[in-house]
Amino acid sequence: MAASTSLALVLAVCCCCCYAASVAPLSSADSSGEFLQCLAAGVPSQLVVTRGSSSFASVLASSVRNPRFLAPGTVRPLCVVTPTNASHVQAAVLCGRRHGVRLRVRSGGHDYEGLSYRSVRQEVFAVVDLAGLRSVRVNRRAATAWVDSGATVGEMYYAVAKADAGLAFPAGLCPTIGVGGHFSGGGIGMMMRKYGLSVDNVLDAMVVDANGRLLDKKAMGRDYFWALRGGGGESFGIVLSWKVRLVAVPRTVTVFNIQKTLAQGAVDAVTKWQTLAPAALPDELTIRVVVQNKQALFQSLYLGTCDQLLPVMGSRFPELGMTRADCREMSWLQSMVYINGGTSSTPVEVLLNRTTSLSVYTKNKSDYVKQAIPSASWEKIFPWFDGAAGAGLIILEPHGGRVGSIADGNTPYPHRSGVLYNIQYVAFWPTTTATPAVPDWIKNVHAFMEPFVTSNPRDAYVNYRDLDIGENAVAGGVTSYENGRVWGEKYFGAANFRRLALTKGKVDASDYFRNEQSIPPLVSTK
Ligand SMILES: Cc1cc2nc3c(=O)[nH]c(=O)nc-3n(C[C@H](O)[C@H](O)[C@H](O)COP(=O)(O)OP(=O)(O)OC[C@H]3O[C@@H](n4cnc5c(N)ncnc54)[C@H](O)[C@@H]3O)c2cc1C
Ligand SMILES: *[C@@H]1O[C@H](CO)[C@@H](O)[C@H](O)[C@H]1NC(C)=O
Ligand SMILES: *[C@@H]1O[C@H](CO)[C@@H](O)[C@H](O)[C@H]1NC(C)=O
Ligand SMILES: *[C@@H]1O[C@H](CO)[C@@H](O)[C@H](O)[C@H]1NC(C)=O
Repeated sequence: MAASTSLALVLAVCCCCCYAASVAPLSSADSSGEFLQCLAAGVPSQLVVTRGSSSFASVLASSVRNPRFLAPGTVRPLCVVTPTNASHVQAAVLCGRRHGVRLRVRSGGHDYEGLSYRSVRQEVFAVVDLAGLRSVRVNRRAATAWVDSGATVGEMYYAVAKADAGLAFPAGLCPTIGVGGHFSGGGIGMMMRKYGLSVDNVLDAMVVDANGRLLDKKAMGRDYFWALRGGGGESFGIVLSWKVRLVAVPRTVTVFNIQKTLAQGAVDAVTKWQTLAPAALPDELTIRVVVQNKQALFQSLYLGTCDQLLPVMGSRFPELGMTRADCREMSWLQSMVYINGGTSSTPVEVLLNRTTSLSVYTKNKSDYVKQAIPSASWEKIFPWFDGAAGAGLIILEPHGGRVGSIADGNTPYPHRSGVLYNIQYVAFWPTTTATPAVPDWIKNVHAFMEPFVTSNPRDAYVNYRDLDIGENAVAGGVTSYENGRVWGEKYFGAANFRRLALTKGKVDASDYFRNEQSIPPLVSTK
């Protein structure tokens, strides 16, 4: 407690000085002033926090997950707009367009490159922070919910399970992830083998488009609705709310964590896991792997009881040596706490805590694997994760089941048929180190892995955003499609990226909603 309080304090102090030092010279002071005046007409003044305000630093930092992007020199917004009504969002879009000020949308602020609240290049922009629009309205009888973008997935899990403990939703593991960004990029989680990604369960959405109109699925049309469900945040407007199909979970689920050292057969277990976890286990069972300190941690969620799970593990995966003592039975809601580092008695209310820890710098990258990596290669891979300073970990997320059986073009998320698992590389280093510079380790391990992962393109997951794979270039006033293909085809595949770009060309041809990896507009010549 004491440690986290002093950390928060250090952060607040640090922010005050870096903001003072890094207020960028505005390229168009006039239009900024006019933009703010325009906002004043449509948004109550207490909901527009400008750089001069004493609360600017804390409001801007409120949901930031990665302290690298709080460092001095970061390009910051002119103001943060904190809407409490759709009309405020519409006003921000209309004022922004009228006065040439772009908007960055922020829901949970967990973007890996901080694109929801900082710009890589000098530019004048405003942040629309949706944290104030976060209600979760559950329709128990229909097993659906309308979830506002500013809700965290933890808040969503809590609201859904409190309404009906037999209902849940397939989404990510970290409770502070925002629904807005998470759903915009897909939504990988521990139930995707049974129920698919978050976006596979989105039924409707409310979006404010580049003309400031508020549209539902029917009004926006088929391609637009398709693009919102995984085409990446920012590009297609500001999604305010999502209607989702809730899924059934049993009253008791079972979790386990089993760790294997090299001497205990970690290499053989991971080698077998690669083809077992995505294909030869029941869809109710998800086992992910974390490789760190030359050990493999097998983390599992089973939608059933320990009695049901034991024979499955005994016959399919005896290498783990799982016994009844490894089982933890609990409610599904409690399992979301457990998997995130809690225990079976941690109060589920921790899921409502929106405060993020800022104690480490991190940098992540991703890959997909379609062909199992031989054990001799795993012998060489494990030493990369030796716990040395600057070295980190990998997380392997099994696909297959429902997520793998949906056609690649059904949503913009293309990593479906034939995918065994996703790899996420995580480098982390303490904020007490003098510099937020990324250690070479992550670049080197990523290069080492090239022969083992998909190629042409080397696929990546848009929600694990990585600017190393490419950034937009502007040509003729809009971002270039040709240039965007470099990173876009990795995230979405060639066909989906083209469809996203054509959709962007239809709904935002002038490319108002733009960031370093937004979808470029492609205007069909047909
Ligand atoms: C600790 C941690 C754990 C994670 N675990 C998982 C996981 O288990 N599974 C998984 O799939 N991912 C996971 N992620 C990645 C996460 O899904 C993405 O970072 C996601 O984009 C975060 O959404 P956000 O709303 O918090 O982010 P933000 O930073 O607010 O937004 C991300 C992007 O979407 C845009 N955006 C945000 N809201 C909207 C909106 N309402 N309308 C339009 N565009 C919008 C932003 O402008 C930005 O470009 C994790 C991330 C972290 C930091
Ligand atoms: C937004 O304002 C309108 C008009 O005043 C009102 O009808 C609506 O309920 C408000 N929405 C929210 C989410 O408060
Ligand atoms: C990288 O992933 C880890 C594990 O999910 C997460 O804690 C961290 O915040 C991520 N990094 C960034 C830059 O957000
Ligand atoms: C919320 O989470 C933060 C960051 O992990 C932690 O410091 C804080 O103590 C938590 N607050 C409560 C009330 O649990």
